[in-house]
Amino acid sequence: MDTFISNSPEETFALGRRWAAELRPGWIVGLIGDLGTGKTQLVKGIAAGLGIPGTVTSPTFALHREHDNGSLPLTHIDLYRLESQQEIVGAGLEHYLTTPDGVTAAEWFERWLGGDWQPGQALPESARPGAGHVLRLVIFSEEGETKRKITYEDFGH
Ligand SMILES: Nc1ncnc2c1ncn2[C@@H]1O[C@H](COP(=O)(O)OP(=O)(O)O)[C@@H](O)[C@H]1O
Ligand SMILES: [Mg+2]
Repeated sequence: MDTFISNSPEETFALGRRWAAELRPGWIVGLIGDLGTGKTQLVKGIAAGLGIPGTVTSPTFALHREHDNGSLPLTHIDLYRLESQQEIVGAGLEHYLTTPDGVTAAEWFERWLGGDWQPGQALPESARPGAGHVLRLVIFSEEGETKRKITYEDFGH
């Protein structure tokens, strides 16, 4: 588990841009944290690092948005309005969360892990990445007006 302290939106963006250089096809970036903690800001940085032109916005109403114009395909998902793993599967999103072909960045990933899951616990078996896939689980918390604590851990390496 690693911790990054961000002191500005720009620093969170820059973290995402650096991560883009490490990401490989089949990786899932699972983003957990309250509204306004910087999940979308980090995804914007990832998109920029992958060379995806234009503005990346939260796909709240579309559930997922595909960006196929970067160095890797990026699927940006927002699970906010889906209440359970069953609903997520029903919406056809399981593939993106467990065995994506490109890179998935999923906001409100706690919806996928289920209501009983707490940071520090093992992943529920039903929510684990598929063989050969890596989940980078990222937890955001607001420490001040522009200060965010971002902890992350890779599963499935
Ligand atoms: N250190 C920081 N990192 C990221 N966002 C920050 C930071 N400090 C302030 N902010 C602000 O917090 C908000 C984060 O928004 P957003 O990335 O959409 O959050 P989320 O997707 O988690 O709801 C933005 O308005 C941004 O300007
Ligand atoms: Mg968001």
